[in-house]
Amino acid sequence: MALPDIQFTAPDAAAPAAHPGLVAVFADLALDTEARRVNRLAKGALTRALASDAWDKLKPGDALTLAFPAGMEAQSLLMVKLPRRADDATLRKAGASIGKALKPAGGLVLAKAVKQLGPLVEGAALRAYAYARRAEAPKAPGALVFAVTDPAEAQAAAAEPLALAEAVHFTRDLVNDPANILTTTEFADRLEAMRELGLEVEVLDEPALEKLGMRALLGVGQGSESPSKVVVMQWKGSEGAPLALIGKGVVFDTGGISIKPAAGMEEMIMDMGGAGTVAGAMRALAARKAKAHVVGLVGLVENMPDGKAQRPGDVVTSMKGDTIEIINTDAEGRLVLADVLWYAQERFAPSAMIDLATLTGACMVALGYENAGVFSNDDAFCNALLSAAQSQEEGAWRLPLSPAYDALIKSRMADMKNTGGRWGGAITAAQFLQRFVKPNTPWIHIDIAGVAYPASDIDYAPRGASGWGVRTLNALVKAKFES
Ligand code: BES
Ligand code: MN
Ligand code: ZN
Repeated sequence: MALPDIQFTAPDAAAPAAHPGLVAVFADLALDTEARRVNRLAKGALTRALASDAWDKLKPGDALTLAFPAGMEAQSLLMVKLPRRADDATLRKAGASIGKALKPAGGLVLAKAVKQLGPLVEGAALRAYAYARRAEAPKAPGALVFAVTDPAEAQAAAAEPLALAEAVHFTRDLVNDPANILTTTEFADRLEAMRELGLEVEVLDEPALEKLGMRALLGVGQGSESPSKVVVMQWKGSEGAPLALIGKGVVFDTGGISIKPAAGMEEMIMDMGGAGTVAGAMRALAARKAKAHVVGLVGLVENMPDGKAQRPGDVVTSMKGDTIEIINTDAEGRLVLADVLWYAQERFAPSAMIDLATLTGACMVALGYENAGVFSNDDAFCNALLSAAQSQEEGAWRLPLSPAYDALIKSRMADMKNTGGRWGGAITAAQFLQRFVKPNTPWIHIDIAGVAYPASDIDYAPRGASGWGVRTLNALVKAKFES
């Protein structure tokens, strides 16, 4: 969905008594001036709420909802708990509480006392997401108006957070879209539309991929009616070797001939989450005109069973030249990434490389929905990524790489096989990918199988696609790749 309409107005222009939707005020131990004004309208309801157990139990950034307050037109009055000197994370959380409560009738936030509007607006915009195809007019969150001392200044401070939130929403729409809508072709079209932001976008079709020798990637898509594609997005915000972002874009993963069980298979519409995150990150960088050279490459395929589909036992030759014995056609993501990683290095000689993929159920077993699994051949680079994730409150946890696991992907028939058995499945997948990373390329692999599509809502997103990683990658570029 496009962002909700977010506006700024002067406090005098705000009419809290007449607003038909949500009215939000801030309080901590006492009511501020504006909250006192609303309290008078609401006949002391806020004073009573402030003295309640429910209020005491709230954490900073949380909110208490008073429904249909007397003396006001509002559907709800939101009391947001905000300490006087709140840090950015608390402000963002407070914003998310407002964004979560925002309904089609819209909202008014009496934010005169808030010093840092950026994170507040960012939290609200991130959380006030409704999936495009379910957000027909009656369901979409209405306009959110912030009443602030200096509306022009607030508008300026909010520009970058809003652009970032828009990029996150773009990713979520991609991930939430079902596979009959988001085909490989539709995906590529949406990426091509990003040219209007100043990105260079190139689409490599099957004949081009064949010519490059990407047989590992093409093998995955050969059972589908949708053509496989690799899309290259470039943002040239500075000179020099680029950072390369690589995404797994399996628009639907049936498992192929090694077909998945029926229960829960519909979730595999999200198996292009890595590509979705790369696309959102490129969008964010272009929107804020980042002073960095970044290329995004996504492998778009559909993993279907069919008369032409790849079989277990097949041996494919990757673009690198290494051969792979297919043991399980459901371990397809690593086959796609192998060729895109290699192509990224051959073409761009990147200064560093990050791949993102909904790669293994094993990673979800290890870390649940809370943390992405992070693997790297470079400690400093990896630590920079982990701090960027922490700054954005996106869970990330490092897991090991080690040659000790290599025995598990040894093949009698080829240079390697595509699965390593039941134990350490997230690690053997990472170990497989590392075969396609040149030794002196700093590289991070992020397994986002758990975090891309959590089973329930999270602080900054309703249930469904989270957009995990867009903000982390943006923060990492800002901290480490901008001149
Ligand atoms: N796309 C899946 C991984 C996945 C599972 C993502 C659940 C999100 C939620 C991946 O292609 C896959 O099927 N992996 C297999 C690998 C196995 C066959 C070695 C898995 O994890 O079971
Ligand atoms: Mn699979
Ligand atoms: Zn998959």
